[in-house]
Amino acid sequence: MIVLGIETSCDETAAAVCRDGSILSSHVSSHIIHREYGGVVPELSSREHERLLNQLVHETMNESKMTLSDIDGIAVTQGPGLAGALLAGSCFAKGLSQGLDVPIIGVNHLEAHIYANFLAYPALEYPFVCLLVSGGHTQLWHVKALEEYTLLGETRDDAAGEAFDKGARILGLSYPGGPAIESCAKTGDENSISFPKAFFHSNTIEFSFSGLKTSLLYRMQSEDNSKTNTLSQNDIAASYQKAIIEALISKCELAVTETGVQTLVIAGGVAANKKLRAMVKDTLADCRILYPDLPLCTDNAAMIAFLGEKYLVMGKRAAIDFPIFPNLTLA
Ligand code: KG4
Ligand code: ZN
Repeated sequence: MIVLGIETSCDETAAAVCRDGSILSSHVSSHIIHREYGGVVPELSSREHERLLNQLVHETMNESKMTLSDIDGIAVTQGPGLAGALLAGSCFAKGLSQGLDVPIIGVNHLEAHIYANFLAYPALEYPFVCLLVSGGHTQLWHVKALEEYTLLGETRDDAAGEAFDKGARILGLSYPGGPAIESCAKTGDENSISFPKAFFHSNTIEFSFSGLKTSLLYRMQSEDNSKTNTLSQNDIAASYQKAIIEALISKCELAVTETGVQTLVIAGGVAANKKLRAMVKDTLADCRILYPDLPLCTDNAAMIAFLGEKYLVMGKRAAIDFPIFPNLTLA
């Protein structure tokens, strides 16, 4: 089956073609327009999707060596995400589905992030524990089979990606904050500041990053007021990054112990962080640790096309008037 996938949940416009579980082509266009605002401006995002989609789909089709008439189905992100952004993608996909007279399916973006790991590791077997860490979500899942997911725990406030993005803003770094902090942290001393790690010593699987962000803000204010700054921006970024990563890893350890599952999969944009990858491997040395290549961690349409194809093959279809769900959850 040949499926065209479309992803427009936030600030990446993406299209991909999947045939029988393999990706033939995948294109992502990141909206640089948001950089000057230090974060995503929803209205601008919707307009960018609208502007970019047609050309991007044509380029993706060309690279796949397929034509629109070869497509057997369309998969599009249904949520969660920004309402206007999701609408831009789903309206485009619906029009294409009507014009080509092929079925359409709405895909859960969170589930697609988890399934990106099957693209990276086709032999991946259930069950596994998945740390889903993106700009909007920080969750630990026990994945038992397709559509059989148990939420083990999640953040009470900010997501880990959000902590990176907001932290970068406080540090005066660019958006998106994750890659900016990671690169700044490379030459910093990660032990220079001991930032607070919420729930670190508790036996519950939950996260909280809002206190950490506030602590960084106070630290930067005191650095500004001090006449004798001893710490560089790199030291602060490295310590901040370490606090986020240690909070994530401690709960991965709990999740693995609680479930007795020895395979830990990391998914979502923050999974691109090399320090996180290395520290998880060191800490959970007895577990099998998996994460996809960088382009499959951050938002992409390959994961949408891949998961959409699975559901289309099972005979699932959406009605042409299916709604978008900005707050869609997985369980
Ligand atoms: O999955 P994603 O592309 O979009 C959402 O579904 O939210 O994740 C985006 C998030 C952003 O918060 C970004 O700062 C973070 O992933 N991110 C990273 C890195 N690359 C992207 N965080 C830490 N280190 C990175 N290298
Ligand atoms: Zn995402």
